Amino acid sequence: MPISFEGQVALVTGAGAGLGRAYAMDLARRGARVVVNDLGGDPHGLGENRSAAQKVVDEIKAAGGDATPNYNSVADYEGGFNMVKTAIDTYGRLDVVICNAGILRDVAFHNMSEDDWDKVFAVHIKGSFTVLRAAWPVFRQQSYGRVVLTTSSSGIYGQFGQANYGAAKTAMLGLMNVLKQEGAKYNVTVNTIAPVAGTRLTQTVMPQEMVDKLKPEMVAPAVVYLVSKECTDSGLVIEAGAGNFNRAAIVKGPGIRPGMDDIKDAEWVQANWAAITSLEGAEPQWRTGQSLKDYLASKG
Ligand SMILES: NC(=O)c1ccc[n+]([C@@H]2O[C@H](COP(=O)([O-])OP(=O)(O)OC[C@H]3O[C@@H](n4cnc5c(N)ncnc54)[C@H](O)[C@@H]3O)[C@@H](O)[C@H]2O)c1
Repeated sequence: MPISFEGQVALVTGAGAGLGRAYAMDLARRGARVVVNDLGGDPHGLGENRSAAQKVVDEIKAAGGDATPNYNSVADYEGGFNMVKTAIDTYGRLDVVICNAGILRDVAFHNMSEDDWDKVFAVHIKGSFTVLRAAWPVFRQQSYGRVVLTTSSSGIYGQFGQANYGAAKTAMLGLMNVLKQEGAKYNVTVNTIAPVAGTRLTQTVMPQEMVDKLKPEMVAPAVVYLVSKECTDSGLVIEAGAGNFNRAAIVKGPGIRPGMDDIKDAEWVQANWAAITSLEGAEPQWRTGQSLKDYLASKG
């Protein structure tokens, strides 16, 4: 069965270029009416330009789809509300939010300025908060919502020169882990994509030949499936791009449990280090104090 978004409305942030554009185009092709948000600044978060969002709206319309632009910054609290308002005022509902807008301010940590830190956090993590905070009451009220957040291999595994970006991208996992629980009762799923694609963000670190080859369209199928009604999983991190699809997860090792009767010392920890750090039999968790296995069993 083809996956359809007929009758649904999607908001994609940072959809004026790169990955966000590919998501917006595929959703529109599948019948979604799309709010195309983009501030239109440069890759470092400077400036703004309405033509980015407008161009993608024009492309969607030229292909027979329906889209409307929004030019707000995700980093503004009111901007997030305006995007959701644009969806409600224009189309009367909102089913899908893809938090995709992003910038880079790469620099080795000893040279990182407060502004480099704050700007990256403002766009990635606050920029996801503002949009979702506005969308959340809509999702709860209609008992339906699909969210995809955007992390990065830098946020999952780390990358030299990206302390600000890596930390902000790891924060997406924290946001997802809480919202997947708060949304569960309302049929709101929250998953996270870790993409790889040739875009203007990666242009600085990839040779042009690779940029041309790693099409954002290789990531879009994973994101489009995650925000479809067909996907009911929540709390997953999916890595996609460059001809690869896989799941990444934070897991908890079995460790050892000496109990609380007698307090151990550092020498005891040293002597038992191999067992404490072992990941043999490690498992993902659903929430603090509950393994995913137990959670799934409790659901029947
Ligand atoms: N390209 C990759 O390989 C890769 C890897 C890991 C993560 N990511 C993430 O994927 C997302 C998309 O990146 P991309 O590679 O397509 O880059 P891109 O620069 O092509 O697209 C990002 C878009 O976000 C917009 N944007 C930036 N700040 C904004 C703001 N404050 N408000 C609204 N829009 C804003 C930009 O104008 C731009 O159009 C980002 O979150 C990025 O960190 C990309």
